[in-house]
Amino acid sequence: MLKVKPIPVERLPELLRLMPKAELHMHIEGSLEPELMFALGQRNGVAMAYPDVESLRSAYVFDKLQDFLDIYHAGTLVLRTEQDFYDMTRAYLARAAADNVRHAELFFDTQTHTGHGVSTDVVINGLHRACVDARTELGISASLILCFLRHLSEKEAFECLEQALPLRDKLIGVGLASSERGHPPEKFARVFARARELDLHLVAHAGEEGPPAYIWSALDVLKVERIDHGVQALKDPALMARLVKDRIPLTVCPLSNLKLRVFPSLAQHNLGQMLEAGIVATINSDDPAYFGGYINQNFTETFASLGLTAQHAYQLARHSFEASFIEPSAKQKYLDRLDETFETFV
Ligand code: ADE
Ligand code: ZN
Repeated sequence: MLKVKPIPVERLPELLRLMPKAELHMHIEGSLEPELMFALGQRNGVAMAYPDVESLRSAYVFDKLQDFLDIYHAGTLVLRTEQDFYDMTRAYLARAAADNVRHAELFFDTQTHTGHGVSTDVVINGLHRACVDARTELGISASLILCFLRHLSEKEAFECLEQALPLRDKLIGVGLASSERGHPPEKFARVFARARELDLHLVAHAGEEGPPAYIWSALDVLKVERIDHGVQALKDPALMARLVKDRIPLTVCPLSNLKLRVFPSLAQHNLGQMLEAGIVATINSDDPAYFGGYINQNFTETFASLGLTAQHAYQLARHSFEASFIEPSAKQKYLDRLDETFETFV
């Protein structure tokens, strides 16, 4: 781990923008900006619930996760064709590349779309083609993680997995998203066991609004490799010790936590305490079109609110590559380039 020279605080935003990074927690449907949503609605003849972009954006005020999920679900109704999924993904990857994201692992779900009569292959083929093109055209690598919706049943999750199996090679893993409270990870123990047999990587949202017990069961029952959010872990010292000992990454999303009122202000966010405790924490945007910013906005606002330093920036960027599912030799190249950036930043 590089020892980073201190820099004046006014130069931090430049460093945060410049440094190469990976984004590991973002839902591609949550990157659908109102402008593109309206354009796709028009293209597909889907009526919009709001008269214009401004009134839609002004509805993005949430008290809790479920408020957001309801609006987010309504927004997905405009996605009908493979080209729609391509266009949405391309827009995100271009935006992420501008923030110096060099690798992104994108969450998506198919259950939302199959529920609207859009087939699994339309979704996955559109997303995947955008990822392939972005590698050569934008210089960013990207891979796909299929999330099960935890408010639906185990049986429906199994159907979702089976429908995706002909496209297995276009996926790197599975995850668990949607309404957390009342839907513990255990509900999906057998689906995750099946995904493990298929050599898929495993992640799950846990401890966003739900209790530390959900993080324990995501680790011990689902056997996930990363925890998405995990901010409630600080309530449980034994869990914190486990996360540190096993170097289990947490993909933290500060602006999401702020917008969904997990923390009353960014100044009260516990990311600084996580880093202090030795947790492999990362910064991510979750649903950037809804939560007020892409990854660099998350970095700059969190650093300003918590008084974090250039050393923390290095640590977080390093964690993002370490925690990624990039194969080891490629991972080392990203880490070497990260070191170069910090060594030459003056
Ligand atoms: N789906 C999209 N964003 C989510 C979040 N923050 N938590 C759970 N499910 C989600
Ligand atoms: Zn999420």
